[in-house]
Amino acid sequence: MSKLKFLRHPHPSPTPADKRAALLANPGFGRVFSDHMVTIRYSEGKGWHDARIEPRRPIEMDPASAVLHYAQEVFEGLKAYKTADGGATMFRPRENARRFQQSAERLAMPVLPEQDFLEAIDQLVGIDRDWIPDGDGSLYIRPFMFANEVFLGVKPSSEYLFIVIASSVGSYFKSGADAVSVWVSQEYTRAAPGGTGAAKCGGNYAASLFAQAEATRHGCDQVVFLDAAERKWVEELGGMNVFFVFNDGSMSTPPLGGTILPGITRSSLLTLAKDKGIAVREERYSYDQWKTDAHSGKLREAFACGTAAVVTPIGTVRAPEGEFKIGNGGSGARTEELKTALVDIQRSRAADPHKWVHKVF
Ligand code: PLP
Ligand code: COI
Repeated sequence: MSKLKFLRHPHPSPTPADKRAALLANPGFGRVFSDHMVTIRYSEGKGWHDARIEPRRPIEMDPASAVLHYAQEVFEGLKAYKTADGGATMFRPRENARRFQQSAERLAMPVLPEQDFLEAIDQLVGIDRDWIPDGDGSLYIRPFMFANEVFLGVKPSSEYLFIVIASSVGSYFKSGADAVSVWVSQEYTRAAPGGTGAAKCGGNYAASLFAQAEATRHGCDQVVFLDAAERKWVEELGGMNVFFVFNDGSMSTPPLGGTILPGITRSSLLTLAKDKGIAVREERYSYDQWKTDAHSGKLREAFACGTAAVVTPIGTVRAPEGEFKIGNGGSGARTEELKTALVDIQRSRAADPHKWVHKVF
């Protein structure tokens, strides 16, 4: 139970049902927002206080707010799903609460207690339940926190604002193809040893955008980053982790080591693969080997995974020296099998042996 008292100020004129239905018909990703937000303030001496559920609205900030200058910001991403009985669930939200704490620590920010994080997201899903789309859609929950002390000195801020907003979403990739293409960034890296790669902080994404734009220019959906030390080992995509499937039935994914985001989807798929008796390794895999194995047929499938991407097959890998296809360039049987296993648990269509599903109401 959260020790904070959440003051409720429901929207005086929420979006009418017909307008909401039109928005939910084809929401895309990250453009349609629900009516409310949750806010909690932090200040040195007072700690976490002033928790509110209120109408979603622009926030006023002083131009000297620390985050606008030194990027002291962390965030999370998770989804709420509608269940057949009219209820709502979330997938492993405690893991997001914990990762949020770890990200905050790395950015020298105060740690929000797990129960406050969980209460905030439950409250938002509860009040904005009508914004959870039917079918394959979901309500993407975006908790985030930033430094808002008005001060230009470089030091950890003494004040923070935690906010949760929600966005009705469909699929992350709009191409509609059954597999995505990726661009291997050879010049730009995402995270160096000792850096913030394992934290979900906005700065990591700012640093990835130039390489992502390069990927887009080369006709690719996502960028793949190699390690910063040797520019050799595959790490992850701009916004998702990566898995490889081999012709002996085994699988691998790059090991966590401080430069990769510890994805909750990644961790869940590792568990599901082990449940199915699949040999799965957390092991370094070089870009050169990736190319060689794709050509020889040793590599059968590759896929990206994350909250936004769910499980998305990778069909084409492109780099300055040329491109190669994986398998037939589309999805593969193992990718589909694991995707179904994961999504069926997330959407309460299958048993939940690991107790991953959190019922909101
Ligand atoms: N890697 C990056 C850089 C991400 O932004 C994400 C998305 O959150 C992931 C991996 C996947 O993490 P998760 O499965 O927890 O969503
Ligand atoms: C997520 O999957 O939640 C992310 O934060 C990744 C981003 C590409 C939307």
